[in-house]
Amino acid sequence: MEVTTGAVASKSDIAIIGAGPHALTLVTNLLQKRKNMRGSLAVFDPSGEWMSQWKHLFAALEIPHLRSPAVHHPDLDPYALRRFAEKRPHELYPPYDLPGTQLFEDFCLQIIRNWQLLDCVIPEKVTRIEPPLRRGWFRLWLSNGRSHLARRVVLATGGGKPHLPDWVMQSHLKYPQERLCHSYQIDLRRLQLNGERVWIVGGGLTSGHLALGAIARGAKVTLIARRHLQEKLFDVDPGWLGPKYLKGFWAERDWAKRWQLIQTARNGGSMTPAMLTQLRRLCRSGNLTLLEGYQIVACEWQGTCWRVICNTGVEYECDRLWLSTGTHLDVTTEPLLADILDAYPVTIVNNLPVLDEHLRLPGCELFIMGKLAALQVGPVAGNLSGARMACERIVPALTKPSLALSPL
Ligand SMILES: Cc1cc2nc3c(=O)[nH]c(=O)nc-3n(C[C@H](O)[C@H](O)[C@H](O)COP(=O)(O)OP(=O)(O)OC[C@H]3O[C@@H](n4cnc5c(N)ncnc54)[C@H](O)[C@@H]3O)c2cc1C
Ligand SMILES: NC(=O)c1ccc[n+]([C@@H]2O[C@H](COP(=O)([O-])OP(=O)(O)OC[C@H]3O[C@@H](n4cnc5c(N)ncnc54)[C@H](OP(=O)(O)O)[C@@H]3O)[C@@H](O)[C@H]2O)c1
Repeated sequence: MEVTTGAVASKSDIAIIGAGPHALTLVTNLLQKRKNMRGSLAVFDPSGEWMSQWKHLFAALEIPHLRSPAVHHPDLDPYALRRFAEKRPHELYPPYDLPGTQLFEDFCLQIIRNWQLLDCVIPEKVTRIEPPLRRGWFRLWLSNGRSHLARRVVLATGGGKPHLPDWVMQSHLKYPQERLCHSYQIDLRRLQLNGERVWIVGGGLTSGHLALGAIARGAKVTLIARRHLQEKLFDVDPGWLGPKYLKGFWAERDWAKRWQLIQTARNGGSMTPAMLTQLRRLCRSGNLTLLEGYQIVACEWQGTCWRVICNTGVEYECDRLWLSTGTHLDVTTEPLLADILDAYPVTIVNNLPVLDEHLRLPGCELFIMGKLAALQVGPVAGNLSGARMACERIVPALTKPSLALSPL
């Protein structure tokens, strides 16, 4: 046993950082291949629970159902959720059996119970990862000041930092905190907005849910999007789930071109046809104004309300500004990777690392899931379907001695 600042460091073969749907998909896939690996895993998440961030966002934004169809979930068998829903068919929503929020969470809980994973999330945040010396062990520093040693590490920490527009970053704004929030900070359940004028910035599906929630609480909403609202059923064309588009993507050896393919496939934020129908109805009732192709360039808190200046030069007033501007991902500013990248430099293309085919940082047994793995996995890397695709690459490297960098 190794000794750290007075306390004995715990050890595991594989440490997984994060307990969201991506980590859960990995654990179920690993256990399906090797049941005896259960004792070799340590999963860390400050919440001490599976799916806490997912559950929080769906509840806080009052999202009734998923955007992705029922085949996408953390179980290995794509049809398992459909079978689970046999007695709850009304919780599969049109047009392609989109699972209801509660149905999906209950299904995930069943997976967690079936694999006896209920109490296995260690309630600690990982604050730092020390690289291994000569292919030894990683040392994970935890928020309780202790450390954990692991031979292999999987980073499954989710979607990046809230993205803030330049006009928020540049101006030295002083304002009451609750008057300017990123969507991640908003919990509709706690709000009463009678008569308030709420401006929502962004044209993704989150901004749609925020608009519905604010109007249901008595607000008059203006949704301002820098482009015309894009109507799409899913984030990306389903052709990106299989060879139709991925064949060409993987054949592309120029990483910058791959990055461009990802941007083109996702094409920024988009709303589902069902959401746009609801928003247009609210426009007709006068509770919603859509400003498409507009941008805020500056704003000022005037003591009781915001003065907002748009790129047209026109000024408006509102009571709250909500930034539904998505997240920003940059491997160089990911605190957990700071020491690792010094020891194991990686090629970086537009903030994304060029991982090896098993989603490892080249030369070391640190694997990355989620959007940061997009240059290998493709445009759905951050989605539920991307978790399964990531597992197809990571699990063999964690279970087959021939694919491991260090002896298993
Ligand atoms: C509102 C919303 C709805 C979405 N709906 C869909 C959908 O319907 N279908 C779809 O395919 N995709 C959807 N997505 C995209 C994606 O599937 C989700 O973002 C999903 O939660 C990603 O899973 P994850 O495990 O990568 O990240 P998360 O769910 O964010 O989980 C990451 C976990 O890591 C933990 N963590 C972070 N840092 C540390 C640390 N230092 N130490 C320990 N733990 C840490 C966090 O506490 C968190 O619990 C949605 C995204 C959002 C924002
Ligand atoms: N299951 C569900 O029902 C559900 C609900 C909500 C979200 N989601 C999913 O969650 C993910 C994130 O969605 P999201 O809506 O939070 O984020 P998103 O899809 O990334 O959209 C962010 C939006 O903010 C805009 N934006 C970014 N920077 C801006 C700036 N500086 N000024 C003005 N606008 C700016 C973007 O504009 P451009 O389009 O011009 O780039 C885009 O429209 C998506 O995968 C989505 O499908 C699912």
